[in-house]
Amino acid sequence: MNKLLISASNVAKKFKSDSQDVQVLKGVDMNVYAGEFVAIVGASGAGKSTLLYCLCGLYQADSGQINLCGTDIAKMSPGASAKIRRDRMSFIFQDLNLINSLNVYDNVRLPAKMAGIKLSKGDISSALEHVGLAGTENKYPHQLSGGQRQRVAIARSIVRRPELMFADEPTGSLDVNTGRQIMKLLKGITSYGSSLVMVTHDLDIAAAADRVIVLNNGRTGAVLVKPTVEQIFAAMHGVPASGAVSGKASAQGRASVPGQTVYPSVPSAVPPVPRV
Ligand SMILES: Nc1ncnc2c1ncn2[C@@H]1O[C@H](COP(=O)(O)OP(=O)(O)OP(=O)(O)O)[C@@H](O)[C@H]1O
Ligand SMILES: [Mg+2]
Repeated sequence: MNKLLISASNVAKKFKSDSQDVQVLKGVDMNVYAGEFVAIVGASGAGKSTLLYCLCGLYQADSGQINLCGTDIAKMSPGASAKIRRDRMSFIFQDLNLINSLNVYDNVRLPAKMAGIKLSKGDISSALEHVGLAGTENKYPHQLSGGQRQRVAIARSIVRRPELMFADEPTGSLDVNTGRQIMKLLKGITSYGSSLVMVTHDLDIAAAADRVIVLNNGRTGAVLVKPTVEQIFAAMHGVPASGAVSGKASAQGRASVPGQTVYPSVPSAVPPVPRV
């Protein structure tokens, strides 16, 4: 059985705004195993980005438990959780976090450099080539389109094949075709052992996941195993659909629907990622 990398139970989080509390997460349960692609869907404002930040330790949940790579995140020092993020994870966030004063080459290289991992020029060129940005090494973020900037963030995230990738709407600024190709690339990486936790509004993309977590009113509304677009849509809108597995038990478990879950085996050598 693949390793359990994230286990979240009953996670709650609120924000204070204008002296009023907004309870965004009210009890979320989910697991992520090695090599698994888990998609998180839900209405805008449902708390998807907040959940992603909580899962990787960038936000502290108010209650509930998040176990990250074998350790209770609440018991980790800020330094320890930063180290796990630096060494084992990569991120493609909604605001991308590219550094405007660095060129594309240095932006892609930065997280690895901070983790003390030496990348060759070839590693960086190859990652850029995989996202369709060959030859852009010397450009600066302001010289790129929104979609190109998004692809730089994706190249940065895949260049050292992290154990865990967190992605918040990674195809949001891409045209449909490029978005599909990028998804093929990200999914290809999970088949070699990396886990991908992705927030998306694109149900076609969510339907490519091993499991889909539907966030509903701050809670895990449903967990769908290899669902169709129709099943995801039905779960998001509260309509029962065949093949959908709802509730806490399925959030914690894996092979919820016999015959529907196929987990990739993890080869010892990592072959090249598929090309966009
Ligand atoms: N730092 C913050 N301070 C106060 N409120 C916040 C903060 N971050 C998020 N919120 C509020 O929490 C709610 C959930 O936000 P979140 O960004 O997690 O939603 P989302 O599901 O990712 O939405 P979208 O699909 O639009 O990206 C929103 O009402 C938002 O205004
Ligand atoms: Mg969001």
